[in-house]
Order: sequence, then structure tokens, then C-alpha cells
Amino acid sequence: MILAIETSCDETSIAVINQSKVLSNIISTQFFHKKYGGVVPELASRAHLQNIAFLTKQALLEANANMSQINAIGVTTEPGLIGALIVGSNFAKGLALRYNIPVVPVNHIEGHIFSGFLAENQVDKKTNFPLISLVVSGGHTAIFYVKDYNNYEIVGLTRDDAAGEAFDKIAKLCGLDYPGGPLIDKYAKMGNKTKYNFPRSMLHSKDYDFSFSGLKTAVRYFLQKEFPDGVGDEAIPDIAASVQAAIVDVLVFKTINAAKEYKVKDIIIAGGVSANSSLRAEMTSQAANNNINCIVPNMSYCMDNAAMIGYIAEKKLEENPNNFNNFDFIVSANALRSKRKIG
Ligand code: KG4
Ligand code: ZN
Repeated sequence: MILAIETSCDETSIAVINQSKVLSNIISTQFFHKKYGGVVPELASRAHLQNIAFLTKQALLEANANMSQINAIGVTTEPGLIGALIVGSNFAKGLALRYNIPVVPVNHIEGHIFSGFLAENQVDKKTNFPLISLVVSGGHTAIFYVKDYNNYEIVGLTRDDAAGEAFDKIAKLCGLDYPGGPLIDKYAKMGNKTKYNFPRSMLHSKDYDFSFSGLKTAVRYFLQKEFPDGVGDEAIPDIAASVQAAIVDVLVFKTINAAKEYKVKDIIIAGGVSANSSLRAEMTSQAANNNINCIVPNMSYCMDNAAMIGYIAEKKLEENPNNFNNFDFIVSANALRSKRKIG
């Protein structure tokens, strides 16, 4: 049994995993950041520190387990907010020393990549390697060519903002709360996505990279010109639908093209933005048109969660059972850009 810990940003999450089954996955979101319009790193660390022990007890209780049954701990060590990562990692080290068990450091993005394989109380969905994975969240937008659990290449990256960041910043320009992604999704359902033609940046670039900061600027100028006195409630649905279409079109087009070029049979989408209803529907239908299977995560595994960290920790442990007994690992804020060479 694995105890998994995720504290990279503003969710404190603890899960218990047993042979790819999720026995519990408690997620506590720090909603108080809303009033600051974004995550305040120092406050995030303090809230993780305050909640982590209680949430661990809860996760064990829900899994009907106790610490003496836990064989290893998986913890997110990168990328993320340094203070937040330190809280989870240090807690993991302390528990591991007390119970004399190994700790598996896990990359948060690797957790997301495979989150579509997770299912409550059942063994993971069948996997067809190699596959193409689109990880799309508030901090990251990347396409991976995944050969196996521990073997993948980055084939595309955002050159500026992440897609979730674009959703959030544009929502803010429209006067919507943080995080804006779910609200844009909600309003888009009532709007006309062809009403405004916002730019699809880098749609026809020959690579799999993305750029979303131009869209944000285009929407800012559009709002200043068309709605100088502020956007009224009645205008939000069409703007939301048109913005969402601009983002989803590029994500889907590039991911499907990558899947075709790399000749894979499966696409897996992951990360907070994979909760977007239009992205899920468009990716699934366009993949099907190309005889490709699209795996979408259960909603509870789209957002940051510890179950995905435990899942990949278990795979790493199976592959290298004796590799995780020294506790001198550190945390890192590193974004994916510096790791592009893996590809
Ligand atoms: O993976 P996640 O929980 O945290 C990060 O690692 O960033 O992703 C959060 C991001 C936010 O930008 C949020 O606005 C976006 O995911 N998001 C959505 C939706 N639900 C969450 N974006 C669009 N549509 C949604 N339904
Ligand atoms: Zn994430």
C-alpha cells in the first residue's frame, strides 16, 4: 500500500493506493486564494502545514488502513511552489523515518500524464503504449510522447502562458472570479462560439508548441474597444464560448497531429483544463474520426490530486524496488522548459 502526498500548489491532497486501486483520495482546496486573484505562495505553504496531518488521518481512515500497513510513500517534489513542496516532502521524510519505509519522489507532471488510467476501486484501465499525452493545467501546457511509465519525450510546450493561465487571465479581464477556467466553461455552454473570431496562435506552425499570451492581449484590446464601460452579464456567454473555442481548437489540432505523426493508437488528456467540457468532447470526437482512442480522466483526477502521485510512485517502486531508501532528495520549482532535451 502506498501513501501519496501532493502539495505542489494550492491543493493539499493525500491518497492511499493499493495495486493501482484508489482506496482514498482526499483533496482540500485552498479557496481563500480567490480573494487575491491567484495563489499566494507563502499562504499556500502555511495552509499545507496546517492541514497535512489531519488530511493524512482522514485518508487512512477512508482507506480503512493504518500507517503500519503502508509499504512506501510517494510525494510530489517538482515542479511547484518551493515552500509548498517542502511541506509535503518533509512530512513524507518524517513519516518514512518513523515507519522505516521508502519514499518515492514524483514529478507532478508525470503524475498528471497517467491520471487518465486511474479509477476508483478498480485496477487501472488498459494501457496501450506508446501514446500521446496532452497535459494542460494552470501551470503547464505540454504534449508528451509516452513510451512507458518511466520513458517519455516532450514533443511540444507552451512558449509563454499555460492554457489554464489563459483561461484564468481572460476570465479576470471579463470580471469573473479566480479560477476562471470552470466559469468560462459554464458560460460558454450558453454562448455562440462563432460570434467572435479570436486568434488561434501557432495553429499552423510546423511544431507542437503553443502560445496563449497573444490571445490574452487580443481579448484585452477587443474588450477595451467593444466594451469600454465594462462587460455586461449578457455579453459574457458569447465571449466565453469564442475564447474557449480559440483555446480548444489549438489544443485539439496539435494533439491529434502529434498522435498521427507518432502513429499512436491512444491519446490521454490530463491536468485541470482536461475538465473542460468542450476539450473533452472535441478531443474525443476528432480522435475517433482518426481511429484514435481518447482517454479522459475522471473529473476527480483532472485537478491536482495525490492519487495520481501514488499511482506513478507504485510503478517506479515496482521497477526499482531498492532505489528509494535514501532521503536526501530535494524539491525543485523547475518548469518543463529546462527539461526539453529529454525529447
Ligand atoms: O491541474 P490544476 O488543478 O493545477 C495546476 O497544476 O495548475 O489546474 C488548474 C487550472 C486552472 O487554470 C483552472 O482554471 C483550469 O485548470 N480549469 C479549467 C476547468 N477546470 C479547471 N479550465 C477550463 N475549463 C474547466 N472546466
Ligand atoms: Zn497540476
